[in-house]
Amino acid sequence: MNTIDVPKEWHQAAERIKHDTKVCIILGKIDSGKSTLCRYLTQAWTASMIRVGYVDSDLGQPTIGFPTTVSLKIFDIPPQDHDYSNPSHFQFVGNTAPDGFLLQALHAVKIMADKSRQQGAGITLVDTSGFIDGPVARILKLHKIEMLRPQWIVALQAKDEMEHLLKGYEKMGWQVIRLACSKHVVTRSQAERQRYRSEKYKSYFRHARITNCSIHKVVFPSCILGTGQRMAPPELPKETGMHAMNPPYMEKCGNELLIIADIAGSSIPVYELKNSFDVTTIVLIERPTLKDLLVGLNDENNFTIGLGIIADMNPFTDKLTLFTPVQDTHKVTTIRLGTMKVGLDGKEYGKTRVIQHW
Ligand SMILES: Nc1ncnc2c1ncn2[C@@H]1O[C@H](COP(=O)(O)OP(=O)(O)OP(=O)(O)O)[C@@H](O)[C@H]1O
Ligand SMILES: [Mg+2]
Repeated sequence: MNTIDVPKEWHQAAERIKHDTKVCIILGKIDSGKSTLCRYLTQAWTASMIRVGYVDSDLGQPTIGFPTTVSLKIFDIPPQDHDYSNPSHFQFVGNTAPDGFLLQALHAVKIMADKSRQQGAGITLVDTSGFIDGPVARILKLHKIEMLRPQWIVALQAKDEMEHLLKGYEKMGWQVIRLACSKHVVTRSQAERQRYRSEKYKSYFRHARITNCSIHKVVFPSCILGTGQRMAPPELPKETGMHAMNPPYMEKCGNELLIIADIAGSSIPVYELKNSFDVTTIVLIERPTLKDLLVGLNDENNFTIGLGIIADMNPFTDKLTLFTPVQDTHKVTTIRLGTMKVGLDGKEYGKTRVIQHW
């Protein structure tokens, strides 16, 4: 980390904010210097004897935590560069960008901000992603602000790219400080961003090992697995044409039929299955899509204990095989399916949509 260039406006903002502030959120486009400003503020405020809770809500390029998560670290004294890692808590969201996971992203920020307060942070400082353009970003950022209720919103701008958000916030009565981006900002390519994420995954999984757990002892909130009635393959109606393939695993609960199979969605006879099983929704998990999927391992309070990579899932033998550094796997109550495929070498192998439904 290079030395931080601190324009006098940054210094003035730090002084102004430190009084009577519980929550401060930093906004800006990608590569605007948000995380650098957070480092500066953390240093300045801890030097003034303020306990700072750094909530890192950047799912793609996190400073403190791991990609796909929101994390928290508490600082009491001015940190060294290497202190901005090893979060004290983190919450799995599921994607390296909030799309498709807006609720999970907001919920995770709320959990981390609450923990920061519970741990006595004088100021909870929220670092964010550079996702600022378009209606979805506008809605997400606004809800984040309404949920966190920050005393200060600090926006880094190169020109006027944040005004479509900031003008609205001011009309709503939020206090905004506008700061110019530093001349020392260095932009990063997509390849550099991906390499950065790989290093983060590698570091997280460096002590991971293969472990098995019982599928039916845990909950998968995104599907009915383990909550329904098992439909044995012989009960499959002949007209579905699904007899030829490896027998699929099927479970029915209420109006939903879950199928876990080695087949593509396009070969599912949706209409026939709905009729035969008297359900309104068919959910398919193509078993191969689960391999290498990054998942969140949460406890009974829905706090993330750790991350895992699925090696295999076999509902017939009730066995979920995971690669994870988590030791207390008996505490895992829910498994959150994400969208990222990550190899044991830390490399990302794209995104996948695990759950298909009709
Ligand atoms: N004030 C500054 N002084 C020195 N270097 C800076 C400053 N601001 C930003 N940089 C440099 O620019 C790069 C990008 O900054 P930073 O990571 O803080 O941006 P960001 O907005 O958090 O990016 P992202 O959107 O990827 O999270 C970093 O290498 C950082 O060291
Ligand atoms: Mg950043």
